[in-house]
Amino acid sequence: MKKIVIAIDGYSACGKSSTAKQVAALLKYKYVDSGAMYRSVTLYFLEHYVDMDNPKSVARALSEIDITFHRHETTGQNETFLNGLNVEKEIREMRISDNVSQVSTIKAVREAMVSLQKKMGKSKGIVMDGRDIGSVVFPTADLKIFMTADFDVRAERRQKELFDKNELVDLDDVKANLKKRDLIDTTRAESPLIKPEDAIVVDTTHMFFKEQVEHIVQLAGSRMLRM
Ligand code: CDP
Ligand code: CDP
Repeated sequence: MKKIVIAIDGYSACGKSSTAKQVAALLKYKYVDSGAMYRSVTLYFLEHYVDMDNPKSVARALSEIDITFHRHETTGQNETFLNGLNVEKEIREMRISDNVSQVSTIKAVREAMVSLQKKMGKSKGIVMDGRDIGSVVFPTADLKIFMTADFDVRAERRQKELFDKNELVDLDDVKANLKKRDLIDTTRAESPLIKPEDAIVVDTTHMFFKEQVEHIVQLAGSRMLRM
């Protein structure tokens, strides 16, 4: 069967990455977490005190950044590496979540990431999730999903996810972070989060994780049959 490109966009913590990962595993596709790339840039900027308002400093920092994904030998999961170092855990911390949306508004950052993402999707058979995948990175993606869920449900899911990774964060702080990021992500000048016209909305509020995975795999199957 022909391989397709699947783009999953949407708000924070509605299940994009976990679902995309599982869909990719079931279809034996490559999975790319584009958010992990923006998070890695943010980690580098914070650790190197990059002046985000200075285009020269931003350009220099971007030229020093190398982001790759490698499969973990035992878990089989893709992990994010920044300049050869595994940063998978670090980039999920709240200090990164608190700054990532601001960093992601910078045009040069977006151009660098989009160019890398397009290269990753050159051969089909890919699931990528983020904010601008269906609108900017792969505007001709065969299947576009716009994922959403009620705000409170998203906040509780994210808090639990952080708790499972031993990071205890107050629910109000999680809510404040999601609210702030959703606002920046949907209103920024450069490739804001939008629902592309041809995207299918999947509201995961009342869905079990397994259900949303099966739903997307079915949608992918029907797209493949049409090709
Ligand atoms: O997992 P969560 O939804 O919280 O966030 P993420 O997918 O890891 O993305 C972190 C942040 O990176 C988002 O809030 C956006 O500001 C930015 N991002 C973006 O601008 N474009 C993308 N394609 C992916 C992420
Ligand atoms: O990528 P995004 O920020 O949209 O969300 P995620 O990190 O994939 O998912 C946030 C958390 O919600 C994860 O711990 C998922 O296992 C969980 N979850 C879900 O994705 N779907 C459900 N129906 C229930 C929980």
